[in-house]
Amino acid sequence: MKNWKRYTVTAALPYANGPKHIGHLAGAYLPADTYVRYLRAQKRDVVFVCGSDEHGTAITIQAIQENTTPRAIIDKYHALTKNSFEKLGISFDIYHRTSEPLHHETAQEFFLDFYNKGLFKEVTSEQYFDEEKKVFLADRYIVGTCPNCAYENAFGDQCEKCGKELSPNELINPRSTLSGNKPVLRETKHWYLPLNEYEPWLKRWLIRDHAKDWKQNVYGQSKSWIDAGLQPRAMTRDGEWGVKVPLKDAEGKVLYVWFDAPIGYISATKQWAKENNTSWELYWKDSDTRLVHFVGKDNIVFHCIIFPVMLHMHGDYIVPDNVPANEFLNLEGDKMSTSRKWSVEMHEYLEEFPDKVDELRYVLTSIAPETKDSEFTWKDYQTRVNSELVAIFGNLVNRVLVLTDKYFEGKVPQANECSELKTFITQQRDKISDSIEHYKFRDALSELMNIARHGNKLLTEKEPWKTFKTNPEDTGITLYDCLQIIANLAILSEPFLPFTSKKLYAMLNLKAEDYQWSDGGRQDLLKPGHQLGKAALLYQKLEDEVIQKQIDKLHAGKPTNGNKKEKANKKMEANVKSEITYDDFSKIDLRVGTILTAEKVEKADKLLKLTIDLGYEVRTVVSGIAEFFKPEDIIGTQVSVVANLAPRKLRGIESKGMILMSEDEAGKLHFVSPKDLTNNGSIIR
Ligand code: MF3
Ligand code: ZN
Repeated sequence: MKNWKRYTVTAALPYANGPKHIGHLAGAYLPADTYVRYLRAQKRDVVFVCGSDEHGTAITIQAIQENTTPRAIIDKYHALTKNSFEKLGISFDIYHRTSEPLHHETAQEFFLDFYNKGLFKEVTSEQYFDEEKKVFLADRYIVGTCPNCAYENAFGDQCEKCGKELSPNELINPRSTLSGNKPVLRETKHWYLPLNEYEPWLKRWLIRDHAKDWKQNVYGQSKSWIDAGLQPRAMTRDGEWGVKVPLKDAEGKVLYVWFDAPIGYISATKQWAKENNTSWELYWKDSDTRLVHFVGKDNIVFHCIIFPVMLHMHGDYIVPDNVPANEFLNLEGDKMSTSRKWSVEMHEYLEEFPDKVDELRYVLTSIAPETKDSEFTWKDYQTRVNSELVAIFGNLVNRVLVLTDKYFEGKVPQANECSELKTFITQQRDKISDSIEHYKFRDALSELMNIARHGNKLLTEKEPWKTFKTNPEDTGITLYDCLQIIANLAILSEPFLPFTSKKLYAMLNLKAEDYQWSDGGRQDLLKPGHQLGKAALLYQKLEDEVIQKQIDKLHAGKPTNGNKKEKANKKMEANVKSEITYDDFSKIDLRVGTILTAEKVEKADKLLKLTIDLGYEVRTVVSGIAEFFKPEDIIGTQVSVVANLAPRKLRGIESKGMILMSEDEAGKLHFVSPKDLTNNGSIIR
């Protein structure tokens, strides 16, 4: 095993275009933080960098849709996410931003390095251009008729109706979403990274050398990409929002967001080094530095193939030693999604449970999607908190401190070190270390809990509250051992449960700075006679109502059927009208009538001409329902009619009255009819 001098640990830069949820936390940020805290506890030299990813088409589009600017969006979400991470105890050394000038310079330097070495392929191709807005249109900015299903608003990259993947030139009648005009094809030049030329290097560095030490899911995905053959990939885009391409003939071109974003790790390190008077280069260019990227599985190809190729092309840089990517965390049986409102956002959790951060960290680490997708449910969260954190960890600490207070006035009793216990805890410490070193945080946490379990077992077996009357010395020995266990928990729980660890140090009246990982196992952390601090409850039981509230909240926010439904709901919501009085309503003469005849109106696809028996008279009504009903099918149907609507002429036919229809989310119309047959002319009120 290599003896690393230093560590550069990164966690994926979150897009600053929306809030982040607990799935992101469990996927990348929490394991990264645990790893880094463990390294720091070992006094190893480590820098932990992250920040906002603030460029990319998604942010530009969102700004257009929300009628705001990219700057306003990134400022809002940068602050929100940074703040949430702080409260969650994610201990970045720096949380930088890709909109910072330092980052732009750094990304441009990379680009120029490749450019000057002649490594890029310049390719000119035809792409759609909006002549009014004077911009090239990314695929998503173009809509048109789907060649597959004839849906009129298919996107340039995919038809949302039939799901077919498209390219913009397949669209019939393409339109720019920016101006509504028909875009024209124009030539544009871009710079491509010839990934294919680096296949031999990738085969050695990744496929051969990391077959054993990388996680199966990560290695497998990367290998299959390489095996399938790599294509040159454009590293520039036409647009305004992003890092400008630093060339004379590149007006209106920016770097591809996946080119600049990972370089954000480097610029963040530069900024941190500046603030801390150290050299950033040691952390990126010294072969004794271990570079580790924590990401979610959708980021694997960028961190295992594209960015390493870039670092390798540049030449002076180290490449990642590992990319311990996690799979996805689902929520209550469904994929987590912010846009579908099926998620628990980090800031929401913090608002609901401001003092239960370690509870979340504990549960998310216990169920981390390390090898396959896993699932968060509120019930499971409750169970794990109540029957593990409260019943095992919290209970041990509470009982031991209360008993010590009662029998020994809160002073550590006289006893000798127990070598058996020392061996046990030392073993546990090493198991935890080994698991963390192999990015198995779930296993590590469960070994930590086994230490607390052992303490409870001691209490149950030795019953110090009973022995005190007959043999107070035994009581002292048991409590001494349990107190040493708790002191060890303060040290060893810190990477996972930093807030708990802090409380433990305070309760034990010890200073955290005085201890490090290697002190784990010691049986003399607390000397006899040492005065303990005040006992406080570590965790509180989560009641059913509290959990039910979260479940209800989740379901209340969720549209039952994904995106389409959400849009429909939005549309319905948008149509909510202002309040009217009963008088307003009573002005409408609503009646039941029966359709006597129905026929198509010539040259009008949507209209049917109906005659309706209202009991007291027969009317002609022209109705826009032809798309949904055949004339012969609706004769005899009883319907609701607005009988006193002012007559209107439609296609030369006088229409007196209107039939009530309800429109469903797909835009389909349904008659609003009395449940049972009734007399024509009946009043509806
Ligand atoms: N913003 C990307 C995402 O959320 C991650 C970028 S990671 C970086 O998926 F390496 F590019 F920074
Ligand atoms: Zn389609």
